[in-house]
Amino acid sequence: MRESFSGLVIRRGEKGFGKAFEFAEIAFRNLPFLEEFHFFELVDSTNERAKSARPFSLLFAEEQTSGRGRLERSWVSKKGGLYFSIVLPGYNVSKLTLISALSAAEAVKDSKIKWPNDVLLFGKKFCGILGEAFEDKAIVGIGINVENDVSEFEFACNIKSYYPLSIKDVFENVMKNFAKNYTDLLAGKWREIFERFAKICETRGKRVKVITPGRVIEGVAELSEDGAIVVNGEKIYSGDCIHLR
Ligand code: BTN
Repeated sequence: MRESFSGLVIRRGEKGFGKAFEFAEIAFRNLPFLEEFHFFELVDSTNERAKSARPFSLLFAEEQTSGRGRLERSWVSKKGGLYFSIVLPGYNVSKLTLISALSAAEAVKDSKIKWPNDVLLFGKKFCGILGEAFEDKAIVGIGINVENDVSEFEFACNIKSYYPLSIKDVFENVMKNFAKNYTDLLAGKWREIFERFAKICETRGKRVKVITPGRVIEGVAELSEDGAIVVNGEKIYSGDCIHLR
């Protein structure tokens, strides 16, 4: 049996009341390129739904039943967190993923980034990004623990444990940052974006163990401007990175 999830599609300029319109208003006000906002109370995965959405759409869910993470992992998505995917015309997905992590990190004071795109507060992860290319589109899925319970996970935290920010506050901040970073990216300001990323990326200079399909590489990590890390002179674009010290 296939579960079916119905969402509400709001187009720029449409007016209405309720939670869906409140979040849509934040998204449309901050993202000048946005044309459609899809709101789901419950959905399998916004990244999955994004495959059939048009470029310049944002898909937002209050809860996901099959939230997906990097490296075939799942992303537990209980109420109280932020779960959304932005659909853009095909572009360099790793750069879009990097600007998404940066936009989330710059939205919450004291955030740090663990390569490639985990966002941490005081050593624990509160945000993850899943960037995917699908047909001629780029999809960036952003999951943020705001006030959802994460006590079952040893290495996760939520923002509420540190700062009194609401889901709307966090969404607003991320939208604002994403708009700026995306505009800068399209304007060719990659170096400036990358420098801001590098400044808060904790992985630089750390001894790491990187697990890639079929290989484990250990050494001191440096960042490369194309978003890869360099360990023992070798560039790695994707993998599970463990900080050893
Ligand atoms: C990770 O850290 O492994 C990435 C997690 C990405 C989770 C988000 S939540 C919104 C979007 N929909 C999904 O199914 N996944 C992403």
